[in-house]
Amino acid sequence: MRSIHSFLGSWIIASGAAWNTDVHNQIGFMAETFLNKYTKSILEHVLEPQYNGSIGRAAAWADAFAHTKEGRYSYQWHWIDTHDDPPAMCALNYAYDCSEGGCVVSAIANQTNILKGCIEDVKSGSLKNGANLTCSYALKWVSHFLGDIAQPLHASGLAAGGNFFNVTFGNVSTELHAVWDGYIVYSDANVSHPFSNTSISPFFSKLVSRIHKDDFIQPTHSWLACSDPSAALACALKWAHESNAWTCGYVYSQIHNNKDLAASGYARGAYPIVELQISKAALRLGTWLNKLVEHRHRSDQQVVFGGGGHD
Ligand SMILES: *[C@@H]1O[C@H](CO)[C@@H](O)[C@H](O)[C@H]1NC(C)=O
Ligand SMILES: *[C@@H]1O[C@H](CO)[C@@H](O)[C@H](O)[C@H]1NC(C)=O
Ligand SMILES: *[C@@H]1O[C@H](CO)[C@@H](O)[C@H](O)[C@H]1NC(C)=O
Ligand SMILES: *[C@@H]1O[C@H](CO)[C@@H](O)[C@H](O)[C@H]1NC(C)=O
Ligand SMILES: *[C@@H]1O[C@H](CO)[C@@H](O)[C@H](O)[C@H]1NC(C)=O
Ligand SMILES: *[C@@H]1O[C@H](CO)[C@@H](O)[C@H](O)[C@H]1NC(C)=O
Ligand SMILES: *[C@@H]1O[C@H](CO)[C@@H](O)[C@H](O)[C@H]1NC(C)=O
Repeated sequence: MRSIHSFLGSWIIASGAAWNTDVHNQIGFMAETFLNKYTKSILEHVLEPQYNGSIGRAAAWADAFAHTKEGRYSYQWHWIDTHDDPPAMCALNYAYDCSEGGCVVSAIANQTNILKGCIEDVKSGSLKNGANLTCSYALKWVSHFLGDIAQPLHASGLAAGGNFFNVTFGNVSTELHAVWDGYIVYSDANVSHPFSNTSISPFFSKLVSRIHKDDFIQPTHSWLACSDPSAALACALKWAHESNAWTCGYVYSQIHNNKDLAASGYARGAYPIVELQISKAALRLGTWLNKLVEHRHRSDQQVVFGGGGHD
């Protein structure tokens, strides 16, 4: 059983501190910057009041929940274990790799579908103030899993997502999953403390600006090639494929000997990948949520138009 294969920042839990979910919060805050007003006004009724309508604040819930007795069933929804052999061979086979009980790909599809109905309920006035937990959970899971699926080692089965692949980072003995969950991000952002869980931090605001300037190693429009929530399974599968490809393209192929990954240049070489994957996750999440809300909005209007009504 893996104990810590679950999220960006999990290494802090492994070391016993409480810095475990901040990167998920930040991806959520980045995504919020892409939401239109109408989407925000709908989603704030899906979430329980404690989140104050903030996707960023809600984006970390899924990890805590997965570690409760009640939420244990959702633990495996945070990743997909491929049966490939990076760096020699990368491959993802949904039917074979998505375990019984679900994986991050099926969970994105399932929760997106549930969320669709919830959005309709808010529009019709039958859902307010996060009163339906199935709905609140669906939004919190979607906000979390679109982050997880962009982390290369959440789409890789080798050594349980790298959890059993020991490495050294900045003189600390750790494992590869933790390095990609947290160490590289903190090192790239040059911080020694957690990111905020209530507002966007400078490192992530800069990524948002770069998204607007199309300033990444891959063009931003290509990130949205699959971003239609009505094709949720196909899109989630494509995103998982992309993440999995990085395990051959960098994650395992650039590890040489037992060199310290912070000192060897490995971390530095990973910065553009981590920045890309985090930014993709945020833009996709914001776009996904807008489309989920807008889709129904449009079809509502079509009904009105069809009836020769106002607008
Ligand atoms: C809740 O959100 C509103 C607007 O989005 C903001 O003005 C307010 O300060 C927030 N409250 C808290 C407690 O964060
Ligand atoms: C879909 O979501 C519901 C509600 O969270 C859950 O009970 C069910 O097990 C999920 N199904 C799959 C296949 O993930
Ligand atoms: C909560 O939302 C789910 C998903 O839309 C729905 O199936 C369920 O009936 C709702 N529960 C209540 C009490 O309205
Ligand atoms: C990796 O590290 C853990 C904890 O330090 C240790 O128990 C385990 O034996 C190590 N695994 C390998 C393959 O060296
Ligand atoms: C790692 O340890 C070496 C030797 O003690 C030291 O020179 C180096 O600064 C340390 N690196 C970090 C990142 O702490
Ligand atoms: C990282 O932060 C430290 C202090 O917090 C600062 O001295 C150093 O110049 C920063 N390094 C980079 C590369 O920005
Ligand atoms: C947010 O972070 C603060 C400390 O920085 C912590 O006390 C608080 O519990 C965190 N809130 C949540 C919801 O994780």
